Amino acid sequence: MQNILKNSTLSLALAGSLLTAACNQNASKSTATMTDSTSSTTAAATLPAASGFEKTIDGKQTHYFLLSNKNGLKAAVTDYGAHLVGLLVPDKTGKLTDVVLGFDDISGFQKAKSAYYGATIGRYGNRIANGKFKLDGKEYTLFKNNGPNTLHGGKDGFDSKVWDARQIDSSSVELTYTSKDMEEGFPGNLKVKVVYTLTDDNGIKITYEATTDKNTVVNLTNHTYFNLNGAGSGTNQDHIVQIAADGYTPVDSTLIPTGKIEPVKGTPFDFTNATSIGSRIGNDDQQLKFGKGYDHNYVLNKHDMNTPIATVVGDKSGIQMQVFTEEPGLQFYTGNFMDGSNTLFGGKKDEHRTAFAMETQHFPDSPNQPNFPTTVLKPGAVYKTQTIYKFSVK
Ligand code: BGC
Repeated sequence: MQNILKNSTLSLALAGSLLTAACNQNASKSTATMTDSTSSTTAAATLPAASGFEKTIDGKQTHYFLLSNKNGLKAAVTDYGAHLVGLLVPDKTGKLTDVVLGFDDISGFQKAKSAYYGATIGRYGNRIANGKFKLDGKEYTLFKNNGPNTLHGGKDGFDSKVWDARQIDSSSVELTYTSKDMEEGFPGNLKVKVVYTLTDDNGIKITYEATTDKNTVVNLTNHTYFNLNGAGSGTNQDHIVQIAADGYTPVDSTLIPTGKIEPVKGTPFDFTNATSIGSRIGNDDQQLKFGKGYDHNYVLNKHDMNTPIATVVGDKSGIQMQVFTEEPGLQFYTGNFMDGSNTLFGGKKDEHRTAFAMETQHFPDSPNQPNFPTTVLKPGAVYKTQTIYKFSVK
């Protein structure tokens, strides 16, 4: 599994040219809805109140953690599914804006479970074909929760578990979970640690660690939906996106990668230059049809935390988000399955394409795809990876 560990690399051939894909309780509870004073005359955003996250689920108490940094950014996290519940960052006028979609309470997240708003995803992010994979010659069978495939860990992934949690300091919370041997069909007792930190340079950093006692597969990610103009503020189509990826992994009609890495050049998947989400999403393109928009894994050119792998700007707010990661892939999902059936915190509906996700990850279906960077974790090795979503204004 050494090559799931950070900074190892493997080369993949791409249509004649070389594309390099690196393989590579002491809960502190916030009391009430926050209010923030800003220079703006319009009301600043708030975060959901803690009370909606203090429940008993599966016999365990759940909690709400409020994070802040020295610049006044605020985030809310719950130990239910290690969800990011809300994130307040300043817009170009200095007004705090909640840029992530969330709900008033845990039941909101539960009702919208299949969309994975803000969730920590495991044991395996994205799809595994036909709910099956082979490891060390043995076939493992998983629950098919997405047509013929397994998505985001199966029936009850890490997003619906109550994690143990400990607030480290005012800007940081640590969440841990042990996934038992054969939970959701995956081998090995897997101990997982996720830490959310609001950094002083206005990033939300998410670090992941995992160890196992048997060979297994792991692919952890975060499934936050962003709208940089503010959650519930309308379409994502005019957001400007840049993704530093020359290739992507095309899929079949069930969104399983074909195994090929194709160049984005000359296709609607080319975001190497800043382009609005909506400018080509309606093109007559089979891959866009399969995804009902963008729902594809990008093969990142670099993923060393030094340069952003993606940059997105909210056209109205001027809020810019840069993504840094150690993962080789990025699932860019444009909310194509959002359908207005859920009421978000703030009262708006989660309408079609009113947010996007940037899920840093190993590639979908890697356990069945020998050409993709491995997702096997072995006893003695430590799975360790990090992603930062960093905010500024433009
Ligand atoms: C998947 C989408 C799915 C969404 C919510 C994304 O990671 O690629 O196909 O609809 O998660 O479940």
